[in-house]
Formats: sequence, structure tokens, C-alpha cells
Amino acid sequence: MLVLLLAISCGRKENSPAGLKDAFGEDFLVGVALNEGQIRALDSATDSVIRLHFNAAEPENCLKSEAIHPEEDTYDWELADKYVDFCTERGITPYGHVLIWHSQLSPWFAVDENGNDVSPEVLKQRMKEHITTVMTRYKGRIKGWDVVNEAIEDDGSWRQSPFYRILGEEYIPLAFQYAHEADPDCELYYNDYGMHHEGRHRRVLELVGMLKDRGLRIDAVGFQGHMGMDYPDIDIFEKYMREVADMGVGICITEWDMSALPTITSSADVATLAQSLGIAPENMLNPYPDALPEEISAQWNKRVEDFFSMFRRNSDIIRRVNIWGLNDSSSWKSTPRRRDYPLLFNDDLTPKDVVKHFTISE
Ligand code: XIL
Repeated sequence: MLVLLLAISCGRKENSPAGLKDAFGEDFLVGVALNEGQIRALDSATDSVIRLHFNAAEPENCLKSEAIHPEEDTYDWELADKYVDFCTERGITPYGHVLIWHSQLSPWFAVDENGNDVSPEVLKQRMKEHITTVMTRYKGRIKGWDVVNEAIEDDGSWRQSPFYRILGEEYIPLAFQYAHEADPDCELYYNDYGMHHEGRHRRVLELVGMLKDRGLRIDAVGFQGHMGMDYPDIDIFEKYMREVADMGVGICITEWDMSALPTITSSADVATLAQSLGIAPENMLNPYPDALPEEISAQWNKRVEDFFSMFRRNSDIIRRVNIWGLNDSSSWKSTPRRRDYPLLFNDDLTPKDVVKHFTISE
């Protein structure tokens, strides 16, 4: 009785779900990207929100090669170990991000002592050593890894990364082979952004087909899901997810966030865009420095609700939706020079309307 009264006085229905992980419990795991302060549990209020809402996680930076493998013969496990412990202690499933990526790559990884590209043989050996050492350390604890990240450009061409330059596209199957040898029980993913671009989409289908033809393990494709108010088109996103799943792999939404700011591309006519939004052109880079206007906030919440309803409709193929951060002030997208509002919780950790919609009013 006391519990019931408490639930009612907190504004929750008797059997309404408590957090996002409960609201989507029948559908998929709900994850969060954890930064250093969160992993170190520096703030108890933050920790409570993480515990209440999430049953999966990725580390925002601490498993990237520049962080974990700063020099060829030196690994720094301190924060990465804490990340895995943090998750395990809270019943959160830890995922691994990322093994092979051109960005935040350790400076030594692909060059010799003179700063020139290493030979294909040396790069293969370094990839194998890195993948094997990192995966072995967390064997049986990290459930799945982003093996290769962002290998494809919007138009479908291969990204000119050091890996591609030295090994050609062969570096991708090699990475999957090394990963599977390191931990045969671990799930393996290919992860990329801008998955609504047709060129990238076609190439992803080809890549999954090639890995499967060669008998290599690939469990899912990660759709990063960094979005804006005007991209991607929700129907195309859904169609492309289903086409990838038809290749016989799962889908993970790995890095979801939605910028609330006007999208400014290099070809954008900023003056016209500013006029249509009622923003002074000189304020376009940082249009909402104090707060998000109510009207934009309502549009943002509605669009997020539409996306999450679409994710739920596709829960037969989606295994996990991982939000790229907890509250707006901790988002990689928000800086003092360009304040953004891309996450599910406000700066003060209060949930946005869309979170309340899914956790309270359903
Ligand atoms: C971002 C982190 O959020 C930032 O803290 C860091 O400074 C840069 O990287 N694609 C990815 C992620 O795969 O690893 C990136 O994370 C965001 C884009």
C-alpha cells in the first residue's frame, strides 16, 4: 500500500515502467555512453539516473586506441577497467567501442619512427596485437565490440584512412578475423554514421555480404544515429535498417542523439535559413544560448518520440538503442560557443517530455 501511495504521489501509475530500460524492456536494451566522470561515479544524482534508466552502456572515449594504447608497448587500463566494473556492479551490460578507427587513433599505430606509413605486414601485426590484447582482457565481460568504425564515406567510397591506405579494404575482414580469434564468444559489429546516405548504405550491404561469404562472424551493424531536426528521413532510416537486417544481421542504434540546432551545411544559405527560423543571422551559430524555445523543444520531443516508436516497431531486428550521453551539458555536441540540446535529459538531469511520455503516460 505504501509503495502504491508513493508511486501515485510521484506521478506514476501503479504499474507504469520506472525507467527507459523498463519501458522498452520487451523491445531492446537501452544504453548510454559513459564519460570519465560518470565512470568514476563522481556525482550520486547522475549515478541514480544511469541506474534507473539504462541496462547497457558504451564508453564514450576510454576504450579508443589513443586512450587505452598510447604507446606501442604501453597499455593504460585504469579507466577502462573501471568502466567494465561500473557496469557489472550495476547490472548494466558493457559494450566495447572501438577497436579499429582512423580517428582518436594512437599516433604511433600506423607509422614508423620517421613518421612514414608502416608496411602492410607491420600494420597487420599491430592490429592483431591490439585487438587480441584488448579483447582478451575483457573476455566474457564485454558482450560485443565495434570492430571497425566509419570505414565508408557518404558516397559509398572507402574512407582514405591509414588502414585503407596501407592494406586496402582487406583491413576490414582482417580485423573481424582477429577479433573472432581473440574471443570466439563475443559479438562483433560494423559501425558507421550517416546511414541514410544511399552510397554508404549500398556499400554496407556489400560489406556484410562479403564478410558472410567469407564465413567471418558479424552479429550486427551499428547505425550511429547522430541526427538533426531535418535529417535523416525516418522512413528511409527504417527501410535501410530493414534491408541491412535482411542480410542476416541484427541492428544496433549505437550513438543516438538529435541536435536541436538548425543544420548548417557548407552549401546552406544561412541568411535565408535564419530568416525562416526568425533568428538574427549573426546568432545562427549559437541561436539558443540560454534555453531552447518552447516551440522548438516541442518539435524536438515529437520527432524523438516518432523515432523511438519506429525503433519499437522494428524491435524484431533492433537489439539495442544506445544514447550518446546522458544530459545535454555532457554531450559532445554542446559547447559554450554552440549550446545544443541533443540528449534525453536536461542539464539538471530532469527527463525531457519524451522520456516522460514513454515511462509515465503509456
Ligand atoms: C566522440 C566523443 O563523444 C567525444 O567526447 C570525443 O571528443 C570525440 O569522439 N563517432 C564515434 C564516437 O564513433 O566515438 C565519437 O565520440 C562521435 C562520432
